[in-house]
Amino acid sequence: MGSMVVRGGRALEGRVAVEGAKNSVLPILAASLLPGGPSLIHNVPAVNDVFTVIEVLTSLGARVEWRGTAVAVDAGGVGSRQAPEALVRRMRAAFWVLGPLLARSGQAAISLPGGCAIGSRPIDLHVKGLAALGADIECGHGSILARAPRLRGTRVYLDLPSVGATEHLMVTATLAEGTTIIENAAEEPEIVDLAAYLAARGARISGAGTRVIRVEGVTELGAAEHTVIPDRIEAGTFMIAAAISGGEIEVAGVIPEHLKGATAKLREAGVTVEEGEGQLTVRATGRPRAVDVKTLPYPGFPTDLQAPMMALMAVAEGTSLITETVFESRFAHVDELKRMGADIVIEGRSALVRGRPGLTGASVRATDIRAGAALILAALAAEGSSEVGAIHHLDRGYAGLEHKLHSLGADIRRRED
Ligand code: UD1
Repeated sequence: MGSMVVRGGRALEGRVAVEGAKNSVLPILAASLLPGGPSLIHNVPAVNDVFTVIEVLTSLGARVEWRGTAVAVDAGGVGSRQAPEALVRRMRAAFWVLGPLLARSGQAAISLPGGCAIGSRPIDLHVKGLAALGADIECGHGSILARAPRLRGTRVYLDLPSVGATEHLMVTATLAEGTTIIENAAEEPEIVDLAAYLAARGARISGAGTRVIRVEGVTELGAAEHTVIPDRIEAGTFMIAAAISGGEIEVAGVIPEHLKGATAKLREAGVTVEEGEGQLTVRATGRPRAVDVKTLPYPGFPTDLQAPMMALMAVAEGTSLITETVFESRFAHVDELKRMGADIVIEGRSALVRGRPGLTGASVRATDIRAGAALILAALAAEGSSEVGAIHHLDRGYAGLEHKLHSLGADIRRRED
């Protein structure tokens, strides 16, 4: 599984470029299964979740080829309607192939999804939406069988603005008969990116990025070439790396607008964030001030940066209240941060973080992608050496994180088991 060995105490300095957004690429690759011409997707990050979804596509019969940082998908040969259980269990987003397969062949089967252990992550909104689109759905024995000789446009109200359900329904509705309206839709930039990819294939979608999305079904889709947006969560991780190490990092290749939530909180904490054309320069001296943080759907503070922000607050001056409202339980990193000397108490959906002047190196374990990033960040600030284990979680979402941090001056190396 491997680990990262980090010796803390160095201020990080320099320039780092972010990859394409993992959370955009995953639904786009799933949507490449929709019938029609091939897709050429640029700016694809070489992370394990992407490799997993590519494995799902090829196991279904698609031809997938890497061309540098682009991925070409030709789904013309897809014959199977059943996604392999082992792959879907590995990553929740693999479940998003159900709708495209259904649109393609009128029937699809998939096992219930796995993925990061961050609380119970139901799929009821996906199922409800697919049923509203006309699918007959049977659940049992750990899997789902969906049948829909014809999908028809409908009006779906999402009980909460789920990113995945919004994406899954938007994709599935592209080839439905008539118009689909998704109300209380999620507004994340990745949804806008997915809509842009679908539009390039000939889909008719309006309102992506707002609470109401309208999809007018078309009879066929075509080929498309699309460039994925920058990964705002990777960018936010480097912003916090500058803040926690007391350094200065130019985070390049970003859309600053997508990072407003993180930028506002870092500024409130006394960190300097300068917005430039496609880049952010983040500078910090001394300890940050404690600030309260509440995770919210976009454009609020992203849940995926909650753990990294908690690492920063662990060394802030003062006491911070961090409240997780998106996921039911996403505090597995707390016990690990405490092993490094952090003073954190969990009370329901909130964590009270009493900032300490410093952390101490320790042996800790990543429990999910962002928890792993938080521990690496904490280790950068800690006195002495830390070993962050179960690093396969980190590899699901970050490409070459240790090389990027090393190029910024961090003392970090990977240790294979
Ligand atoms: C996506 C992101 C993930 C991010 C999350 C929230 C991808 C691949 N992953 O995950 O990194 O942390 O958005 O920004 O894009 N829910 C239900 N029923 C459902 C679906 C979701 O109750 O059918 C709940 C979840 O349990 C959770 C909340 O909705 O409490 C938000 O989840 P959702 O937005 O669906 O997250 P994902 O799409 O899985």
